[in-house]
Amino acid sequence: MKYGRLFAPLDLGFMRLPNRIVMGSMHTGLEDRARNYPKLAAYFAARARGGAGLLVSGGIAPNRAGWGFPFAGKLSSPGEVARHQLVTQAVHSEGGKICMQILHTGRYAYHPFPVAPSAIRAPINRYKPRGLSSDGVRDQIADFVNCARLAQDAGYDGVEIMGSEGYFINEFLAPRTNNRTDEWGGSLENRARLALEIVRQTRAAVGPDFIIIFRISGLDLVEGGGTGAEVEWLASQMEGAGATMLNTGIGWHEARIPTIAGAVPRGAFGWVSARIKAATRLPVIATNRFNSPDGAEAMLEKGDADLVSMARPLLADPDLPRKSAEGRENEINTCIACNQGCLDKVFEGKRATCLVNPRAAYETELLIEPVKPAKRIAVVGAGPAGLACATTLAERGHRVTLFERAHEIGGQFRYAREVPGKEDFHDTLRYFARRIELTGVELRLNTTAESAQLAADGFDAFVIASGVSARVPDIPGIDHPRVITYPELLSGVKQAGESVAIVGAGGIGFDVATFLTHDADADYFEEWGIDRTLTNRGGLVPPKRVTSRRRVYLLQRKPGKLGATLGKTTGWIHRSALKARGVVMRNGVNYQRIDDAGLHLTTEAGAELLAVEHVIICAGQESVKGLASELASSGKPVHVIGGALLAAELDAERAIREGVTLAATL
Ligand SMILES: Cc1cc2nc3c(=O)[nH]c(=O)nc-3n(C[C@H](O)[C@H](O)[C@H](O)COP(=O)(O)O)c2cc1C
Ligand code: SF4
Repeated sequence: MKYGRLFAPLDLGFMRLPNRIVMGSMHTGLEDRARNYPKLAAYFAARARGGAGLLVSGGIAPNRAGWGFPFAGKLSSPGEVARHQLVTQAVHSEGGKICMQILHTGRYAYHPFPVAPSAIRAPINRYKPRGLSSDGVRDQIADFVNCARLAQDAGYDGVEIMGSEGYFINEFLAPRTNNRTDEWGGSLENRARLALEIVRQTRAAVGPDFIIIFRISGLDLVEGGGTGAEVEWLASQMEGAGATMLNTGIGWHEARIPTIAGAVPRGAFGWVSARIKAATRLPVIATNRFNSPDGAEAMLEKGDADLVSMARPLLADPDLPRKSAEGRENEINTCIACNQGCLDKVFEGKRATCLVNPRAAYETELLIEPVKPAKRIAVVGAGPAGLACATTLAERGHRVTLFERAHEIGGQFRYAREVPGKEDFHDTLRYFARRIELTGVELRLNTTAESAQLAADGFDAFVIASGVSARVPDIPGIDHPRVITYPELLSGVKQAGESVAIVGAGGIGFDVATFLTHDADADYFEEWGIDRTLTNRGGLVPPKRVTSRRRVYLLQRKPGKLGATLGKTTGWIHRSALKARGVVMRNGVNYQRIDDAGLHLTTEAGAELLAVEHVIICAGQESVKGLASELASSGKPVHVIGGALLAAELDAERAIREGVTLAATL
């Protein structure tokens, strides 16, 4: 078998896991309301059916103080057990296993009564925590233990105790957040006492045949965080305390270093798990950016971990394990680390889902059911919206013809995949290409769909997904040879010189700036200042600035912060990376003209010339939907989706969701 190590069972003594794939913990938002547990159960059942060896729930608070925000998911009283039974029964009936994560948010709690080791406010929270008394600490431990017992009553196969990412337990471990002078602060033994007591007392309460995973912070990435030696010591103590396995945690939420975004190389933190593994006999789970079975298998092959966690990759494709086991890895819908559908949603207080899989966490609402009788449907445009719609229609049994003007599928994704940090977009197109084959969509490339021909061809319905074209702003000199559009640049039709002005600082402007300033030899760890020796507290070293040789101006007409529309969890990464590379960001500019001298602007300070070799136009898009009106008289239903419907911002999440949602109803 190709993935022999990934699909080797793991014997825990009292339980056998069928393989080494763990679905990592993800808060979806469904955990927070009792009425949503049937949806949560269906969500987990799909992942159990997909073959993951072990699932871990999103974080559940052990008490009110540990809530992420008011009325977040909590398990502290017997009355809250029944809803969890829906989840455990659904998973078990699919032959799966599931642990519930106990997450106490400590000083990250976004409500007015957080508790923490010391009264030190987190830079990302406006609420200051109350420092706990010694008895108060013991009360919190009792709440963890009570929560684990209730999880056992609910039928979970175990619990994961969340000890990383800067939450409550991690806050005791790090001098940054713990300046206590009692038995819970000071020496490492004292700072680690909470973590070990929680595991020890939980084990005593749940008995031997129940999984206890401790998620240990291998790399804090904040000043005053732990050192490698401290992490190793804690790892070495966990077996004695009664843990079954250790999972790896990477980076506090307040860290200013990306740890899960596209800028992070696949499997970048395997070495952190390897250090933990060397310090313990317990099985260790590696994490972050393992989005393919090949990467996971390679990790196990090196002997650096015993299991591999895949969180977002199983949002994107619940069937990833099964497809891998059956040698169908080219059918995997790969997580592209965009955070747009999942983490950004959580931070906006919405339900998490997935950009490439809009059914994630909507399993009971977005149903893909077989149709009878089948219709003949024409889909025009093979960008994300058209691809999602055509393949879902065909999966349901419709006969679908997909027209694409270009010589290949992908639409705007063909440009996006060229941007450093978006290489995973290649996989989305590989997935759709394979799905076209599997579902039997008839793909006509290099074909401009004409309304007369379409109307004459006897289709029962039309879906217009013809996407967008780059908007050309009305600037005098816009036809000057030094002007390049973003599709021309990213497709390699034209190259930019050593000095460049980018007109437009939306998502594409930032992508183009990243493309133009990227240094292929730059090392992610050096660029962001990660101490791979783990000698320094928090694993930090001064970042090595990789200033770009190219002079790049990123410009926007509007006043206000550049990149304000970028994703909540990724915008800061783009801004700080570009700043470090020396990109000059300017707002409130008026474009006057482009000529042989360069780009002429006016700002509040007066007139200015940017003497640049090239001006790249990233000034938004316009919908391409002429066919929709031409087909209106055909007497057949015409549906418009994706960029063709609305080109306000390039939004692949909306495009794919509209494609699948429409296909589910036709
Ligand atoms: C939407 C979302 C919610 C998350 N919620 C939790 C959580 O409740 N507890 C936790 O330990 N980690 C949480 N994480 C972090 C994941 O467990 C995981 O460490 C991270 O996504 C990186 O792994 P991946 O690349 O396999 O997704 C969350 C991640 C996402 C994307
Ligand atoms: S939304 Fe993006 S990051 Fe999140 S699971 Fe889907 S593809 Fe991955």
